[in-house]
Amino acid sequence: WPFLLAALGLGYLLGSIPFGLILTRSAGLGDVRSIGSGNIGATNVLRTGRKGLAAATLVGDALKGTAAVLIVGRFGAPEAALAAGLGAFLGHLFPVWLGFKGGKGVATFLGVLLALAPLAVLAFAAIWLGLAFLLRYSSAAALAASAATPALLWAMGETRAALLFVVLALLLWWKHMPNIRRLMDGTEGRIGQKG
Ligand code: G3P
Repeated sequence: WPFLLAALGLGYLLGSIPFGLILTRSAGLGDVRSIGSGNIGATNVLRTGRKGLAAATLVGDALKGTAAVLIVGRFGAPEAALAAGLGAFLGHLFPVWLGFKGGKGVATFLGVLLALAPLAVLAFAAIWLGLAFLLRYSSAAALAASAATPALLWAMGETRAALLFVVLALLLWWKHMPNIRRLMDGTEGRIGQKG
């Protein structure tokens, strides 16, 4: 238990680094939370018009999840690695530094998945890219890809990871409630549309 809690805590600390906010501020673009959807993630950073910064946000927010799982996985049991992944995801969604108002979790979801089941990332990416190309909605693509992930992991025999990703997908959907409402009334911003 103490090790699981330490893993959760380390994951949380890594996950709570808000790359979108740090990168846009360092680039002199002000606070990304005051544009578009107000989110700190890559999709909203793209609304600044800076593709490179959006890509860097995606990579940073993903790799903090990957790093948390891999670092803890080197020292502890597989359960501790799962706890670190959960911690990183919670850190991204609820960072103490931002008054617990963090991101929506798509990139960190992907990063944790990369560490636990790299092959599943290919399926996630295929679903995301296919839907994003067809619909031009980042949120809809992510909602579908995240919902498919636990089933995919289950089918791959990754039972414990599948259970973790049920929790992550539920949290991700919950954080996307405003997006779901906007998708339903047709007011959701398209990918790359400036905010
Ligand atoms: O699923 C992508 C999600 O992050 C959408 O972001 O800024 O459109 O709410 P945003």
